[in-house]
Amino acid sequence: MKTAVRFYSRGGNTKKLADAVAQAVGTEALDLSVPLEEYVDILFLGSSIYAGKPDQAVKEYIAANAEKIGSIANFSSAAAKKSTYAGVKEAADANGIKMIEDQFFCNGSFLFMHKGRPNEEDLKAVKEFASKILAQYNEE
Ligand SMILES: Cc1cc2nc3c(=O)[nH]c(=O)nc-3n(C[C@H](O)[C@H](O)[C@H](O)COP(=O)(O)O)c2cc1C
Repeated sequence: MKTAVRFYSRGGNTKKLADAVAQAVGTEALDLSVPLEEYVDILFLGSSIYAGKPDQAVKEYIAANAEKIGSIANFSSAAAKKSTYAGVKEAADANGIKMIEDQFFCNGSFLFMHKGRPNEEDLKAVKEFASKILAQYNEE
């Protein structure tokens, strides 16, 4: 099974999560300037909420790499409770890509809010999420 990890991060929070995911699945986390080289069964895709939605770059990446993506496992952070799942799913649906139902979300630091997040606990949790997704895929 092939996997890849990509992320969009303005302030570094999503990059921290992406590096933890990459460690768990045994690959490297790269930003969206790097297209997928080959078909992947699961793309672990990290993003965050800015002014209510994920950055447009995330949707553009999905569209540009659609033929190389079997399914997307979404992980994200935001200051409030809303994850990027719905926005990413919209782009996945538009490109005929399966969105894995399970997702990871945690709060990410923003101004005076959620200082230190994602923290060690969040990183441990996102690694567990990634390992669980892999295990589920291998069972199917
Ligand atoms: C310009 C900007 C706009 C943001 N808008 C929202 C928002 O509408 N809702 C929310 O919950 N968080 C918002 N946030 C907080 C980010 O989602 C949060 O800090 C996230 O962890 C940032 O990830 P990053 O460091 O990978 O960019 C915003 C952050 C920035 C910088």
